[in-house]
Amino acid sequence: MQVNKIGAAMGAEIVGIDLSKPLDVADVQGVLDAFHAHQVIAIRDQNLTPGQLVTFSRHLGPLEDQLNARYTIPEHPEVLVLSNDMKDGKPVGLIDGGDYWHSDSSHRDKPSLATILHAKQNPKVGGDTQFANMYLAYEKLPADLKARITGLKAVHAVSKLKNKRVKVSERRPDAKDHYEMQKAIPDQVWPMVRTHPATGKKALYVSERFTVGIEGLPEAEADEILDFLFDHQVKPEFVYTHKWKDGDLVIWDNRAVLHRGAGGYTYPDVRTMHRTVVAGDRPY
Ligand SMILES: [Fe+2]
Repeated sequence: MQVNKIGAAMGAEIVGIDLSKPLDVADVQGVLDAFHAHQVIAIRDQNLTPGQLVTFSRHLGPLEDQLNARYTIPEHPEVLVLSNDMKDGKPVGLIDGGDYWHSDSSHRDKPSLATILHAKQNPKVGGDTQFANMYLAYEKLPADLKARITGLKAVHAVSKLKNKRVKVSERRPDAKDHYEMQKAIPDQVWPMVRTHPATGKKALYVSERFTVGIEGLPEAEADEILDFLFDHQVKPEFVYTHKWKDGDLVIWDNRAVLHRGAGGYTYPDVRTMHRTVVAGDRPY
């Protein structure tokens, strides 16, 4: 197995490993070490069935239930299909996944540890995934703001209808009802600066998609801080843009990076991914 750095802000590729075969302890440790060192890793040239994807994913920890059960693979409910493909006039997968910067499941009581995407079909144009390094974003904050937000907690909400900074996608037929229903789901409150349990490093933990306020602060005061942070945390020097190759399997660390889908492809140019999510612990 060989690990090569691929981005300036973060990111590495791994070549020379076949995840469809049983892995030994050294292989798993090698993948984990690269994951902790680089935050985003692309394991090249993989051809995995959904079952093999699940088996590999479990090396990183127990898997999360997928929230969008209607787009999971029936025999493998841990695998969500992300796709803009259509069959008999209906979408075969979730089509509006991740258009705003976020960390997966920061709105749940145990946010995700890692997300794993396996490219099944890449579009001819577009379809990049962008990542922003929250270790760097924290490190590069002005000292007074670092001090100001240390010890503060931010409010994370799942429904887009609770967030004035985001729009509901027009492309998804059931979107309005979906987000209306989600308004009843309780918000979560997490430290704005979290400590990574494996590396011990501090990371900024807010995002435009899910963070809607700061606990104990009036809206105007919170907005001033959040607007600054949302702008700061995705500056080009913190961002790595992944251009997918056929067979890529990408793993990112939701405790240390934000991500978003860059879009830019249109049906019948099809993009299909299989996704699993490794469950995490409560941020501290
Ligand atoms: Fe996501």
